[in-house]
Amino acid sequence: MNRTALIGASSFIGHELISLNPDFFIPTYFKNQIKNGIKFDICNDKISNKIDINDFETIVILSAISNPKHCEVDEYNSYNINVIFMKKLIDDLVLHKKRIIFFSTEYIYSGTKGNYKEKDEIKPINNYGKQKYEIENYIIKNSKNFCILRLAKTYSFSKSGKDFHSQWYNYFINNQLKEVECFSDQVFSPISTFEISKALNFLINNNINGLYNLAGSKSYTRLECLKLFLKKFNLNDINVIANSINSELLGFEMPRNVSMDISKITNLGIDLKSYEENLYEL
Ligand SMILES: NC(=O)c1ccc[n+]([C@@H]2O[C@H](COP(=O)([O-])OP(=O)(O)OC[C@H]3O[C@@H](n4cnc5c(N)ncnc54)[C@H](OP(=O)(O)O)[C@@H]3O)[C@@H](O)[C@H]2O)c1
Repeated sequence: MNRTALIGASSFIGHELISLNPDFFIPTYFKNQIKNGIKFDICNDKISNKIDINDFETIVILSAISNPKHCEVDEYNSYNINVIFMKKLIDDLVLHKKRIIFFSTEYIYSGTKGNYKEKDEIKPINNYGKQKYEIENYIIKNSKNFCILRLAKTYSFSKSGKDFHSQWYNYFINNQLKEVECFSDQVFSPISTFEISKALNFLINNNINGLYNLAGSKSYTRLECLKLFLKKFNLNDINVIANSINSELLGFEMPRNVSMDISKITNLGIDLKSYEENLYEL
């Protein structure tokens, strides 16, 4: 009765959570099959028909259209998955009195001021942020047993992810490329998948509910992270072209400064490290 289901375990973050904690979760996937996974399509399936729901106390939701550009280009599809059918999934979980852990995003913040606290004004500037915020509110209104995590830009050291650290590793180390463009005005508080796993275990094992920012302990510009990376790997001959966020080229409005205050979650006793600390512990 204390098992935990991980919906969307085939995601980038899901893969990492499972590899860090192999026997903890019952995983689901949609198109990308995973070992011991249960196929679950949020648009056509009911989770209570897919798993033996009474065996589970907590359901962690990772499934999403998580690419902000896709949420602009195909608003209809992303709204269906991220909002319409997500609400049906939540209804099913509430009906069965399950604890919901929902992964929201730093992109619900507008990015104008930075160092956001959970109680700050919420004004998402792109569809992805608006869709996630709609679900936050839906969960708060309809469930009494939930934990919402406003997750920061995530990186991993597995080198196989779509995250900035893995991409740089492939770009500079595996492919030996010597020139890169990088935003100098994008500010975030990146968090490692290791830290997400640690925090999630703590929240599940201690039955902690509420709404929390989940981010690394220090904020950086993307350019600062790149410089730390190049220093760590002694890459002294890289030509870095610093540029500014260009919404037209990106295909969506990117909030500029989504750095977060994490005191609410660290006050629970969860220790979250900065990119620099993790990089130098490698
Ligand atoms: N990555 C980040 O930096 C970051 C930052 C903040 C918040 N988040 C949030 O954290 C979560 C995980 O992010 P991620 O980047 O790891 O995600 P991701 O790699 O984009 O994976 C998306 C997941 O959604 C599943 N999915 C898509 N359509 C589905 C459907 N119709 N039915 C059921 N599942 C479906 C996919 O399944 P298949 O692959 O099997 O098709 C996959 O498991 C998301 O909710 C995202 O919004 C991520």
